[in-house]
Amino acid sequence: MTQFDFDSPTADWLRARGTGRWHDVTEDVIPLWVAEMDFPVAPPVQAAILDVVTRQAYGYPRDNGLKEAWADWAGRYEGLSVDPRKVAMLPDVLTGVRLAIRTYSPDGSPVVLPSPAYMPFWEVPGLEHREIITVPMITGADGLGTLDMDGIEAAFAKGARSIILCQPYNPLGRVFTAQELAPLAELADKYDAFVIADEIHGPLVPEGRTVPFATVSELAAARSVNISSASKSWNLAGLKTAFITFFTDQNRAAWLKGVHELETEGATTVGMAANLAAFTSGQPWLDEANAYIHANALWLHDELARQLPQVHFAVPQGTYLGWLDLHDAGLPDHAGRWLLEHARIRLNDGPTFGPGGAGHARINLATPRPLLIEATGRMIEAINHR
Ligand SMILES: Cc1ncc(COP(=O)(O)O)c(C=O)c1O
Repeated sequence: MTQFDFDSPTADWLRARGTGRWHDVTEDVIPLWVAEMDFPVAPPVQAAILDVVTRQAYGYPRDNGLKEAWADWAGRYEGLSVDPRKVAMLPDVLTGVRLAIRTYSPDGSPVVLPSPAYMPFWEVPGLEHREIITVPMITGADGLGTLDMDGIEAAFAKGARSIILCQPYNPLGRVFTAQELAPLAELADKYDAFVIADEIHGPLVPEGRTVPFATVSELAAARSVNISSASKSWNLAGLKTAFITFFTDQNRAAWLKGVHELETEGATTVGMAANLAAFTSGQPWLDEANAYIHANALWLHDELARQLPQVHFAVPQGTYLGWLDLHDAGLPDHAGRWLLEHARIRLNDGPTFGPGGAGHARINLATPRPLLIEATGRMIEAINHR
């Protein structure tokens, strides 16, 4: 039992929240898919939300100190130097990714996307009438994957002028090292390209810490923006608050010139208060959450190794998402779909992540252990009786 009792939520309690993860499945299905956490919210964050409700602070949001809190937190926990004057609010991270593509790369230039990729990344460049050049990840010795620098260089050579970098990496769970990332900054410089670093999963690293792209070198800071929020780590996605951080005056000025303020409206008073509380007082809870999730991943790894060794699963270094390779278990390309039908568990189906996704499924490990145990039992049973 932990201080915050991550074990306690039941299916009924979670269904009663009415949000996507449990809303969109029938009652006989255990949902381990969309990236919401099945935990009670961190107590200081919940208190901040209740305070907004008590004060009836439902008018137009104004500065509440969130940018300073993010800067403090990023410096302390990620080694990332943030100037609060170089932070701009967003309703959500994906809006930031879209507008960054438009602002920091020439009209019509393709966007590089490592694959498998978080599903909406396949859609966002199209909103700016951009094509995607896909660069498959290379499977590393740890089974989690690394960036293919030759492939990325070839894409830049073909005319791409931006890349979406997801660090830590959804869906593979990799936390790239500074050594891995430094060559990307050099390539971006060589080809006059820009790195759009979606670092929303940054706080979700159980051991060590993430390496924000901008910390890797001066070149990296000059050629990137960081887009983030407390929403993933403290489970606040429905409250619509995120922000973009610039590391040079030039990049800040380009944003202010190219993006109309109506395009970035949408952060809410509740979301800003919740983000502020997360960054100022939410770390003890997050430390426990990360440890709980990591223990879930270790448990799943050992259970599969014992009971279902034909399913390959490398313990993620970051995020609360795991990537299951179900090829050798004989599952079809749409392995997630098969598991929904035969095991009554809902994972994210591999092919929705693009090339490299067939025969895989993404599992959400931010789940009470009793539910993970039941879901894993269903998977083992279904595959063994296939
Ligand atoms: C890598 C990544 N980026 C962005 C998002 C979505 O963020 P938002 O709802 O703020 O657009 C998610 C959600 O899971 C994600 O995993």
